Amino acid sequence: MAKSKLTITDFTKLATRDLLTILKMRNHPSIRCWMTNSNVIEVEEHLAFCQKLHLDPFSKYFFITCDDKPYGVVSVKAINDNWQNALTGYYKLTDSPYPLWKVRRIILHFMQKNFGLKRSYLIINSHNERSLNPFLDKKILGVRVIRQDDTYHYLECTLPQARIFADEIAKYLQEVEVNFIVPTLLPYTSALRQKALFIKASINIDSNDTQDHQTCTNKRDRSYA
Ligand SMILES: CC(C)(COP(=O)(O)OP(=O)(O)OC[C@H]1O[C@@H](n2cnc3c(N)ncnc32)[C@H](O)[C@@H]1OP(=O)(O)O)[C@@H](O)C(=O)NCCC(=O)NCCS
Repeated sequence: MAKSKLTITDFTKLATRDLLTILKMRNHPSIRCWMTNSNVIEVEEHLAFCQKLHLDPFSKYFFITCDDKPYGVVSVKAINDNWQNALTGYYKLTDSPYPLWKVRRIILHFMQKNFGLKRSYLIINSHNERSLNPFLDKKILGVRVIRQDDTYHYLECTLPQARIFADEIAKYLQEVEVNFIVPTLLPYTSALRQKALFIKASINIDSNDTQDHQTCTNKRDRSYA
């Protein structure tokens, strides 16, 4: 059977039409009720937010399609400016043959390889059983609750060492084909240099589209760094 095809696109590489699809998803009552900002977001506000991402090297938002159909969003925001720790979020509207938590792992692996990310944090509504229970019940390695109250659970997820993480991701890549569409990234550059380069890349945003497309397949030696 043919593998499903996931396309993971940085918001800064999306057309307005896709940004509006994302807004529709984000504003859906079943999603926004679990977000820290549960208000309906207006089109202008959303587009202005997406525009600002071009100048923000510490916030990465990814739109995921599965077999070319809109599927979900994963966000990764640096907590400190050298990307050791990041706050992540994720949501999906439709079901797809591929679980979004695995896509989140693929993206975190990408962030480890390109930015040296070590830990991710999640803030999950304490009543959001569907999202929270797997973390609590499945005793996932590296995950611990660092604080909890009636409103939120704060989870710390330490990423596996590079080689162990690469093995985990290699298993997922046997199940799906993954394409990343991201702006040019430079690995392990200092935060300030990264910021300068990111701004430069944003200014030339459409000039080198073909080079920006990074593809990963199940072949280990062609992974997506
Ligand atoms: C949270 C959310 C993204 C999870 O979607 P998903 O990763 O595709 O997973 P599903 O909830 O569809 O569950 C599919 C399977 O994956 C498992 N699973 C879910 N999260 C998991 C995790 N973090 N680790 C391991 N397994 C997990 C589930 O237990 C389920 O297993 P089962 O088939 O054996 O019952 C989705 O429910 C959603 O968008 N909810 C609304 C928004 C939201 O709550 N976002 C999180 C706040 S940051």
